[in-house]
Amino acid sequence: MYTLNNLVVFWNHYKSQKFFSSVKDHFCTGASEFTSQNYRTMDTTSKGDHEEVKDHVSNGHADAKRSAPQDSSGEEIKRQKPNVPEGMSKREWKRQMKKQKREETKDEYRQKKKEKRKQARERRKERIREEGDANSNADSDEARNHHQQKRIKYNYEEQKKTGVRILMDCGFDDLMNEREIVSLSCQIARAYSAQRHCKHHLQLDITPFNKRLKQRFDEAIPQYNKWSTVNFIEGDSLENALPMDDPESMKKITYLTADTDNEIEELEAGHTYIIGGIVDKNRHKNLCADKAKELGINTARLPIGKYIKINGRSVLATSHVFELCCQWFETNHDWAEAFNAVLPPRKLHAASQTSSAQPETSEEATDLS
Ligand SMILES: C[S@@+](CC[C@H](N)C(=O)[O-])C[C@H]1O[C@@H](n2cnc3c(N)ncnc32)[C@H](O)[C@@H]1O
Repeated sequence: MYTLNNLVVFWNHYKSQKFFSSVKDHFCTGASEFTSQNYRTMDTTSKGDHEEVKDHVSNGHADAKRSAPQDSSGEEIKRQKPNVPEGMSKREWKRQMKKQKREETKDEYRQKKKEKRKQARERRKERIREEGDANSNADSDEARNHHQQKRIKYNYEEQKKTGVRILMDCGFDDLMNEREIVSLSCQIARAYSAQRHCKHHLQLDITPFNKRLKQRFDEAIPQYNKWSTVNFIEGDSLENALPMDDPESMKKITYLTADTDNEIEELEAGHTYIIGGIVDKNRHKNLCADKAKELGINTARLPIGKYIKINGRSVLATSHVFELCCQWFETNHDWAEAFNAVLPPRKLHAASQTSSAQPETSEEATDLS
């Protein structure tokens, strides 16, 4: 005999079962038929219904995902296992496949990029024209920094020779990941471009130019072979490009680094300045300073704190340091103006954005690498 209590429990259980099956009957016309579109257009009467439908949809998708694909005859298509070569990790294989795909679509990608650049140029021209019409006073030019100004290209023959040599030390291939190598190659390209837009000429040598960096250039920037103003010196170490056995000549070489207390004031003709060709988000602190010390090369940092205030630490990107050296000549030896011209405005402390050469004592610094 059932007691009244038993009957109540049984009734509740029965009710809940019935409720769930009715909800299921109502919505479950087949997971694959239930798209997010009809979910959105469905007349959901209450939040409860809404949530249930949502659950159902996501479960439906999960189910659909789980069910194996079928061919036209209804046969199950077996998913093929990736053909990972022996001894290669799946991750590495995926990376190789991506690279291969990139290679295959390279021309199309370049074409699209070219198109986009052309459109951007057009838009920029249009904007400058509009700005010129609206504000034709000379102040507007002064307010813009050189990133926004129309830049003129100069031939090597037209450029004034400074007698300064910049040597980019690219002997850090093994310390960078693939993306960082790509970033460095772009920075070198930017440095080349910056040099072409200067009235002054600084000799730019890239060494050692080998391993993944060279590979990257060969694959993605093959036109570098025609850059007559940049010397790509293959070699296998920085030392190969230096007069290591001539102490007098070695005195005329300075390794630029943020990790020193010596501050540079001027760039001298007949002098070589080395810039570390590395993108490391400053993972490797003192790397270049230690290397210079080991090779017996003097070190110096740019006088950032003296002339401008910038947000953060003062480790700059390789291309920025090169551009700064160029701009120092372009601005008639005015560091403050050079910093303001090269560093992105967001990195500059508001107070320092006027090009006053008043020395600042702030040691705040920024990591623009
Ligand atoms: C991204 S930084 C490399 C940082 C690296 N951890 C190091 O040990 O130098 C690239 C290069 O730019 C130059 N550089 C960056 N900030 C500088 C600064 N404040 N003064 C002088 N050179 C700087 C250095 O030659 C440096 O090697």
